[in-house]
Amino acid sequence: MEFFDVVKSRRSIRSFKKQALTQEVINQLIDAARLAPSAGNAQSWAFVLVTKPEIKQALVVAALGQKWLEDAAVVFVVCADLNRAEESYDERGKSLYCIQDTSAAVENILLAATALGLGACWMGAFREEEIRKVINAPNGMRPVALIPVGVPNESPRARSRRSANEVVYMESF
Ligand SMILES: Cc1cc2nc3c(=O)[nH]c(=O)nc-3n(C[C@H](O)[C@H](O)[C@H](O)COP(=O)(O)O)c2cc1C
Repeated sequence: MEFFDVVKSRRSIRSFKKQALTQEVINQLIDAARLAPSAGNAQSWAFVLVTKPEIKQALVVAALGQKWLEDAAVVFVVCADLNRAEESYDERGKSLYCIQDTSAAVENILLAATALGLGACWMGAFREEEIRKVINAPNGMRPVALIPVGVPNESPRARSRRSANEVVYMESF
């Protein structure tokens, strides 16, 4: 797909066919994630891939009952590596850059999924400590997003966006 077609056709997909993805496709998603830019190229992130039904169910509970994620072929638990970010950039690295790094990786996963004809959704509503327990996260690993990915079973309309006039300012506010 042409880049702007990918950007324009991406949607949050919350219904999936019960269909596994090939390792090749999963590798493409992983590559998209790890090729994202990061502050000082520190790559302060880690991606935990969840495919087992019982672990997905535990994610659902921690994600406030968002049950639809269970049907995704794979759930990326995208984590910020706070220690790694702090080593490079102290407090700003830990509190800001690693969140930006992981967000860039998340968007790359979403766009790659779209380009591959798959569906995905950026999920941020979850209890962090519960997610940490489910994935056995070491100290300093902060779960930032869950990204369920799979074969889409819905084709939702585009959600509206504020116009450029409303959000763009030239030179100053
Ligand atoms: C930081 C963030 C957190 C989000 N958390 C959730 C979530 O927990 N559950 C959910 O269903 N969608 C979640 N979304 C998806 C948004 O609802 C969605 O992107 C928005 O409504 C626009 O729709 P679109 O992605 O189809 O364009 C989240 C998106 C972002 C960027």
